[in-house]
Amino acid sequence: MPGPARAPATRVREVPPTAPDPSSGEQLPVRTAAVWAALDPLVGAGTALRVLDVGGGSGVFAVPLARLGHSVTVVDPSADALATLERRARTAGVGDRVRGLQGDGDLLHELPLDDGDGGHDLALCHAVLEVVDDPATTLGEVTRALRPGGQVSVVTVNRAGAVLARALGGHPKEALALLEDRDPAPARTRPARRRFAPEDLLALVRDAGLEPGEWRGVAVVADLLDAVPGAASSADPAAVRRLELALAATSPYRDVASGLHVLATRP
Ligand SMILES: C[S@@+](CC[C@H](N)C(=O)[O-])C[C@H]1O[C@@H](n2cnc3c(N)ncnc32)[C@H](O)[C@@H]1O
Repeated sequence: MPGPARAPATRVREVPPTAPDPSSGEQLPVRTAAVWAALDPLVGAGTALRVLDVGGGSGVFAVPLARLGHSVTVVDPSADALATLERRARTAGVGDRVRGLQGDGDLLHELPLDDGDGGHDLALCHAVLEVVDDPATTLGEVTRALRPGGQVSVVTVNRAGAVLARALGGHPKEALALLEDRDPAPARTRPARRRFAPEDLLALVRDAGLEPGEWRGVAVVADLLDAVPGAASSADPAAVRRLELALAATSPYRDVASGLHVLATRP
């Protein structure tokens, strides 16, 4: 007699959009709650995805995604970050589903990405467009690495949020410089990080041939709480998480968030 039907091997667990996965041992930070909520319909849909995490660093997103059953390739130029990634993935028991590749986001076509026949189902490009040589080139490379219908999750710094953060930190001159799109600290040797207004990000995404969904604010209040002594420790984390999710898609709150998030689709 045949035994009970078995779940397909590709079945994956649901990602928790509003709370950390209790079995993961990892706390998904409140400040990224809106990003996980946007990813949830994709990564918790029950199908194992082929994920490309460009500038994925030490695996803040890659390791939880691998824990859900997805295969994740992280491309990052930092050997240190990739070593940490490997260690974290091994410790989490998902070393076989996480691959680190040293390289640049604007040269993805030179890397052995192992994307099967059709390309990746999902790409992440989180907190990377601020630092690459040319964001348009990087996003174009990411687009080409997706299968038709595949999606990319893009997170960037929000210029308005950066202006307010500098002002609240007691640096009004730097805040004004950011407002006027000038380098807030021209004396430093490192190149200034880019900041994006929502319309900048959407234009970049469209110019790469992608169709953007609705943009959200990332960390509308989480970083503000950190700026007020004692506020973050006294606030109920679950309530802050719910508030973040409620504000993420709502103007005027999302307009002053620390970050911007958009999910975009390759037609
Ligand atoms: C702020 S960290 C973001 C890490 C991760 N994506 C996250 O959200 O936690 C920026 C990452 O971009 C990587 N990076 C810098 N230049 C890059 C490039 N040209 N291509 C791809 N990644 C790059 C850095 O090494 C670093 O790991």
